[in-house]
Amino acid sequence: MKILYHESSQTFHLQNDSISYIMTILPGGHLAQLYFGRRITDREEFGYLLETSLRSQAAFPNDDGRGYSLEHLKLEYPEYGCSDFRQGAYEIRHENGSRLTDFIYEGHDITPGKPSLPGLPATYTEDDSEAETLTIHLADKVSGLKLDLLYTIFSEGGIIARSAAISNTGEKAVHVERAMSMSLDLPDAAYDMITLNGSWARERIPETRRLSHGLQGVESLRGQSSHQHNPFVALKRPNADERNGEAIGFSLVYSGNFLAQVQVDNYDVTRVMIGINPTWFDWQLAPGESFQTPEAVIVYSSTGLNGMSQTYHRLYQKRLARGYWRDRVRPILINNWEATYFNFNESKLLSIAEKAKECGVELFVLDDGWFGERRNDYAGLGDWYPAASLLPHGLAGLAERIEAMGLKFGLWIEPEMVNPNSDLFRAHPDWILHLPDRKPSLSRHQLVLDFSRKEVVDHIHGMIAGILRGAKISYIKWDFNRSLTECGSAALPAERQGEVFHRYVLGVYDLYDRLTKEFPDVLFESCAGGGGRFDPGMLYYAPQAWCSDDTDAVERMSIQYGSSFVYPLSSTGSHVSAVPNHQVNRVTPLKTRADVAFFGTYGYELDLNKLTEEEQKMVTRYTVFMKRYRELIQFGTFYRLVSPIETDSCAWMVVSEDKKEAIFAYYRILNRPNMGFERVKLEGLLPGESYGVWSYQSEDVPPEGILRGSFYGDELMNAGFIVSDLASSKVGDNVLEASDFISRIYHLKA
Ligand code: DGJ
Repeated sequence: MKILYHESSQTFHLQNDSISYIMTILPGGHLAQLYFGRRITDREEFGYLLETSLRSQAAFPNDDGRGYSLEHLKLEYPEYGCSDFRQGAYEIRHENGSRLTDFIYEGHDITPGKPSLPGLPATYTEDDSEAETLTIHLADKVSGLKLDLLYTIFSEGGIIARSAAISNTGEKAVHVERAMSMSLDLPDAAYDMITLNGSWARERIPETRRLSHGLQGVESLRGQSSHQHNPFVALKRPNADERNGEAIGFSLVYSGNFLAQVQVDNYDVTRVMIGINPTWFDWQLAPGESFQTPEAVIVYSSTGLNGMSQTYHRLYQKRLARGYWRDRVRPILINNWEATYFNFNESKLLSIAEKAKECGVELFVLDDGWFGERRNDYAGLGDWYPAASLLPHGLAGLAERIEAMGLKFGLWIEPEMVNPNSDLFRAHPDWILHLPDRKPSLSRHQLVLDFSRKEVVDHIHGMIAGILRGAKISYIKWDFNRSLTECGSAALPAERQGEVFHRYVLGVYDLYDRLTKEFPDVLFESCAGGGGRFDPGMLYYAPQAWCSDDTDAVERMSIQYGSSFVYPLSSTGSHVSAVPNHQVNRVTPLKTRADVAFFGTYGYELDLNKLTEEEQKMVTRYTVFMKRYRELIQFGTFYRLVSPIETDSCAWMVVSEDKKEAIFAYYRILNRPNMGFERVKLEGLLPGESYGVWSYQSEDVPPEGILRGSFYGDELMNAGFIVSDLASSKVGDNVLEASDFISRIYHLKA
């Protein structure tokens, strides 16, 4: 990996074994994009890639019409308003009403490693040899503003991390109204765009559309990254698929309002940008102040979508997530939410925990309802002290009893929220996000605390830190159950109200930062009504996220399939729940529920006492299975094989680093009579290696499975693995084998 600068041609070439990213400084000082893609050989100059042949109707900023027009060029961090008529990456309002700022190259630094971003989550290096960073310094002569563009290339994988910082070295305050994290111009528009869309309980379902002229993209205006759209967009060549072809991902390390936008212009140039959503964004930058954008992580893959996802998985698992739990297998937990909702007391909780312990579970999590007057969702948020009527021995006493059983104890919190019916709100009614003279909207009967205010964050920090100090708590589920509305702060002047959405996110990061530093051994799981804030920003603090409030096995196939476009299995919270399922009323076999939940952090979300003895034995076997293979599942290389969104089946697999071991899962969603034959081509194996294949298809197999045969890696990857014997007809007397919602799991070992 290296970053080369060719003085004679003023060209930058960021290069590693996989990719090249090439830019040049134009004669007028603007930065032009020359190439981004598969690695190409370096040369002194790439001037031929600068296509400057004139088109009519253009405007020319630099001379009498013989120079270049920005409209015709592929640019790096462009601006609207001065001969480029496309969407700009930034917009700054000056005191005199002008919105023009012309950033011109001044100099650059190339440094080993990667700097951290003040107050923001970002990917990092542990050793300077892992990455190199180019900082390009630009300045606007008229206003005295400076712009630093940061580009980090990692030594491994097709990764470029980008961000921008705007500093006011002038004498007058300005307003930054738009500051995207990156902008990239690609020379053609022959791409499909993939976004991860959905809603509450059906998050991150991949959707593919062909790029067309004009604007297309996704955004969040909810103050959270959102259930509706993930802060991610990918472009892939139309012939690219999971296994082959070019794909480029753009992922934003941010948890608030975002915009991911693709614009195809009249010359078929594709401009991609991602960053903080400019709607209601207006950041006042006083002289001496700087504004740092969140980080965007661009991943180039020439090995299809799986290649792109695997690069994100490795990076986000190893160099975004941090701390004690980063590299450790995750405890198998039981959570009481779907088992009891608000209807519990200490003895009920202990009975759930006891049975869970018998079945091999390692961590008991007490969900919503344990504090203040919270007997339903109308009251109590903000009052973070245990309800004596439910927990006579307090949290410490409950935790002690759980620990005495040999389980760890975990706790649910929702620290950013307050119910109007709470002591906190009664004491501090102005501590909520609100606008003058307007009534704040309620959602789930709750209001949002104004985390843009330090005293609010300090107060909540005091309460939560007190709880963590006062009881033996090993895990925190940090929930967030509504979007932001009337987003204003009583603590900021009128001209700074446009900062509140972003300041809110910074406040959340600050609280996460303090708590994770003070309690480094506690495992944090983020949650936002399920997966409403499953984003890279959260992963920096909490290495796992509750993926969705939908725990139905069939729904979860699509949700987990889509989540895996960006997020590693070690971050994907997945539990076995009761049937009929509480979200869709579907009845699926216990085995299928486990076989889906294995592909994540794994846990239970039901009262195991309510299962039959036979089912409890099955749960114990599944727990043994997960303990045996979780290292491989959570930290191996994940491949999507068959899409549950496009077909009536689902298949995926995980392969160990040395490729000698794998777990392969196949799910048939709906059964049909007399079905066609189906084979699944496996991935990532060693072609010449012979693999034993053990199946876990029936309920009473030994922990090591039943040996079904052995096959060479190349057979499994090219001829495929036959799965149609599973669901096409009744197999012997086994009715389960030929019904809806069935699954099989195989262990492969060289
Ligand atoms: C939403 C979460 O996603 C659920 O798992 C549960 O914790 C509820 N909130 C509790 O209110």
